[in-house]
Amino acid sequence: MPEIILKNVAKRFGKFVAVDNLNLNIPSNSFITLLGPSGCGKTTTLRMIAGLETPTEGSISIDGKVVFDADKGINLPPNKRDVGFLFQNYALWPHMTVYQNIAFGLENLKWDKKRIQERVKELLEMLRIGQFEKRYPSELSGGQQQRVAIARTLAPGPKVLFMDEPLSNLDAKLRMEMRTELKRLHRDTDSTFVYVTHDQLEAMTLSTKVCIMETGILQQYAPPLEMYNNPANLFVADFMGNPTMNFIDGHLSADGTVSFGGMKARFEAQDPGALRDQDVVVGIRPEYIHIDEDGAVEATVYSTLPSGMETTVKLDVNGASLTAVVFGDVDYPVDAKVKIGFHKAAVIFDKKDGKNIARGKLTLV
Ligand SMILES: Nc1ncnc2c1ncn2[C@@H]1O[C@H](COP(=O)(O)OP(=O)(O)OP(=O)(O)O)[C@@H](O)[C@H]1O
Ligand SMILES: [Mg+2]
Repeated sequence: MPEIILKNVAKRFGKFVAVDNLNLNIPSNSFITLLGPSGCGKTTTLRMIAGLETPTEGSISIDGKVVFDADKGINLPPNKRDVGFLFQNYALWPHMTVYQNIAFGLENLKWDKKRIQERVKELLEMLRIGQFEKRYPSELSGGQQQRVAIARTLAPGPKVLFMDEPLSNLDAKLRMEMRTELKRLHRDTDSTFVYVTHDQLEAMTLSTKVCIMETGILQQYAPPLEMYNNPANLFVADFMGNPTMNFIDGHLSADGTVSFGGMKARFEAQDPGALRDQDVVVGIRPEYIHIDEDGAVEATVYSTLPSGMETTVKLDVNGASLTAVVFGDVDYPVDAKVKIGFHKAAVIFDKKDGKNIARGKLTLV
């Protein structure tokens, strides 16, 4: 159940900075995801922790042991770090059965036969692939192959499991299923999971904490719901959540009045000390807009996307475009006049640098 600590870790390829001064504390037994758009440095970060890539600067320790230190010249190879990998292309050995695929690594480690048998049996059960033990990979579905790959990775009992987009080859339904499996697996093993994805939903649903990066720079490191409700800046706010948060330019007064999109509201900040007179961006989650008779402002329905469980409604409010999500199978005619209001919390960002100024309740006046 190791803790992983990264201190001032940087990776440069020539002049290009792939990861910039990253400080990260990954607690024991956590499920961390590295999240961000393509090219932001997720795989590079994972590879540095695993020992597959040498950082340019900084230090890394796993379970109290320094595995890398640029200044002291310490750099343990991957096989001395007690870690397991699961990559996007999880190629199983095609000429080996499921059983042999899982046992192979343990035979290499010179485990005795009986111990191997017990361990493989345990994994077959844990991943619910016992009935396939005699089959070859070509006789399995994608999701079953994936589970064999996971079993193979877990077999030697690595203290840390690294996964780089391991579900990206699967269809949506199977991916959903495997997410559930991974989460249970995390509970059933004592391992620390470090998971790479560019899918915000995957990060939200799986992790105990999300590390979101952009162009090699850490943007926020927090539990998923905290990140969703109180994003550090516009980048994080925009990246987390689908449909995305509504962003409306406006102006904040030090007394807490906000004018935006032709509307005026009172903003009760959780931290009123943060408020001063300035240009802002008001961020409102789609599900925090309610459409009903109690609404204080009139809006026009631009279009609706009913999906059964919820309906995404595009609204026009005095020329500003807002997206609302209404739960249940409701629908509105195009061009209908409705009334809207805001519930729960909005977040107000600094227009200049995009940073979160304050979170609070927004009441239309
Ligand atoms: N060996 C290399 N030489 C030069 N540049 C590299 C090298 N490896 C990675 N990079 C660059 O470093 C940046 C980060 O790459 P990385 O693979 O970590 O991105 P990523 O976040 O995993 O992206 P993706 O979601 O597309 O997999 C990219 O801009 C990439 O082009
Ligand atoms: Mg990658």
